[in-house]
Amino acid sequence: MDPSKRQKYVLVTGGAGYIGSHTVVELLSAGYAIVVMDNMYLNDINIEALRRVERLSGRPVQFFKGDVTCVSDLQRVFSLYNFWAVIHFAAIKAVGQSTRIPLDYYYNNVTGSLLLLRVMKEFNVKNIVFSSSATVYGEPDKCPVDETARVGPVTNPYGRTKLFVEEMLRDLCASDPDWNACLLRYFNPVGAHPSGLIGEHPQGIPNNLMPYVIRVLQGRSPYVHIYGSDYDTVDGTGVRDYIHVCDLATGHVAALKKLDTKPGCVAYNLGTGVGLSVMEIVKTMEKATQKKIPYKIEDRRPGDIATCTADASLANRELGWYPTRGVEEMCEDMWRWTRKNPMGYDGEILVSDEDDDSS
Ligand code: UD1
Repeated sequence: MDPSKRQKYVLVTGGAGYIGSHTVVELLSAGYAIVVMDNMYLNDINIEALRRVERLSGRPVQFFKGDVTCVSDLQRVFSLYNFWAVIHFAAIKAVGQSTRIPLDYYYNNVTGSLLLLRVMKEFNVKNIVFSSSATVYGEPDKCPVDETARVGPVTNPYGRTKLFVEEMLRDLCASDPDWNACLLRYFNPVGAHPSGLIGEHPQGIPNNLMPYVIRVLQGRSPYVHIYGSDYDTVDGTGVRDYIHVCDLATGHVAALKKLDTKPGCVAYNLGTGVGLSVMEIVKTMEKATQKKIPYKIEDRRPGDIATCTADASLANRELGWYPTRGVEEMCEDMWRWTRKNPMGYDGEILVSDEDDDSS
């Protein structure tokens, strides 16, 4: 028998992306046999990300080029390997863009997930970790928010795609006790691998705070736009729960272990519980980089809320998962990645003397 048929694999869709690549590093170091399926939409960028994942983990990445919206791609990868679980990252994620091209969002994120689940069922693979978001809470009634809070209404199509897939998974698990789904609700993922080898490669001008701060530090934008200073928060600017991408990655390993216990459909917040204001982020980033960051206070951004922080005690208790990295580390790691890769995955890795200790 073909050895790849005997061994049990985990399929990682979208494993060449920002959170996916960091998770693949964790999975490989935890000894999991995995197959990355990615449509390599960003081409050289995704290829380079996987190359660096291999370099970091010292193990080859088994890779299958395919798209979750293509049933024949899905059927092909499921017939090539013997999977026991899927970690499903593959999705598009820009909130603003989702309001302009909602059908693309529903197609990629909802139809893609639906087709994946149908093929999983066809091949009798009934364990999934789903990449969800705190955005499913909309405007929470209280913070820190826990998993018993109502979900929705959500203010944008991107967020709705996450909510709809969660609902689909709830219905599916209710229909058949053999299905198990861990819905991981990420708060605000930031940072990069401490090696500076992998990190976020934003497309175009970023909308999220941290990548925008980086852009200003690089001199590519003149100042940070601070959207609102009249919120009911510590200093009037918006408060969020920023989580290091490497902590998110270990959350996926913990969720995979949880699937082994046949939990049915379970949602977990992945956040630190620590709320940081925009101003606190700017100041911490200044300290990490030893650079002044110009900013301007502007009007609130439509759809934004004052505060969103996680009660992650369920994940602490049931997954045995605890984030270990604080905001200083998030800023330092993000800056190290930026200094080594000013053009993201597009250019050469730059190494200076002060980087030597970190690689
Ligand atoms: C946003 C999305 C959320 C998504 C998450 C992914 C919205 C309304 N929500 O969350 O659905 O899951 O990203 O990471 O877009 N800020 C500035 N200046 C900037 C950018 C942001 O002041 O240039 C402020 C915002 O007002 C907010 C905080 O920084 O208070 C964080 O913003 P951002 O990084 O965009 O994340 P969220 O809005 O929390």
